[in-house]
Amino acid sequence: MIFAAILAGGIGSRMGGTDTPKQFLDLGDKPVIIHTIEKFVINNKIDKIIVLTPQNFINHTNHLINEYIGETENIVVIEGGETRNDTLINSINYIDEHFGIDDDSIIITHDSVRPFVTHRIIEDNIEAAKRYGACDTVVPATDTIVESINARTIESIPVRDYYYQGQTPQSFNIKKLFNLINGLTEAESNILTDACKIFILKDEDVYLVEGEVTNIKITYPYDLKLANTILEDRND
Ligand code: CTP
Repeated sequence: MIFAAILAGGIGSRMGGTDTPKQFLDLGDKPVIIHTIEKFVINNKIDKIIVLTPQNFINHTNHLINEYIGETENIVVIEGGETRNDTLINSINYIDEHFGIDDDSIIITHDSVRPFVTHRIIEDNIEAAKRYGACDTVVPATDTIVESINARTIESIPVRDYYYQGQTPQSFNIKKLFNLINGLTEAESNILTDACKIFILKDEDVYLVEGEVTNIKITYPYDLKLANTILEDRND
C-alpha cells in the first residue's frame, strides 16, 4: 500500500500573533492544509492519507475536509505528537495498528505547510521510495553556505556544489523505517529531528528527489505573503 502522512501537528510559533496554527490560515480561498491535502487526493496511487494535527484541531480538520474535499474514506485525521518526529512516529504506529506492516508498503511524509508540492514530486517520491527504500526532496543550495559553530566567526565555507536544501516529501519503505525507529537508543532518539537522519545514522542510503523552488515551507508571515503571490501567479 501507499500511505501519505500530512504532518500538521505543529503550532506555528514562528508565525506569531495568532492562536490558529499556520496550516489552518487561509491561502487564497481555502486553508493552507486543504491545498496540501488536495495534492495527495488527486494522486490515485495513494491508498490512505493520514493527517496528523494537534488534538484540539482534529474536529476542525475533519470539518474542513468535508467542506472542501467532501466525504471520503481515503483520509483519516489523528493526533500528532509533541515534536515533528513524534508526529511521524504516530503515523507509523497508526499504520501498524490498522493495516499491519508488510515488506513493500511505503509512506510519503509531507509538511502540511508546503502547499505547492507538485504531482511530479509526489510521483518521483513514490518511485524512489519503492526502488531505494528512502528518499528526500531537495533543491541545490543557491546561497553560499557558511558554517559557524559559535555564531560569531566562520568555521568553514563548504563547496556549494555538494549542498542542497531539504524540502519535503521524505518517503520511506515503512518496514525499514519502523525497524530503524524501534532500534534507536534513547540518546539517538533525542538527537533525531529528521526521519532521513535516522537512515543516515544507520548507514542506509537516502536518495535525492529533485524538488522545486516554489515548494516553499510557510514558516514566517512573509512566507504566507509569498505563497499568496505564487498562488495568484498560477491562477493568472
Ligand atoms: N509538525 C508536526 N508536529 C509537530 C511539529 C511540527 O506535524 N509536533 C509539522 C508542522 O505542522 C509543519 C511541519 O511539521 O507542517 C514543519 O514544521 P515547522 O514549520 O517547524 O512547523 P511548526 O512546528 O508548527 O512551526 P514553529 O517551529 O514555528 O512552531
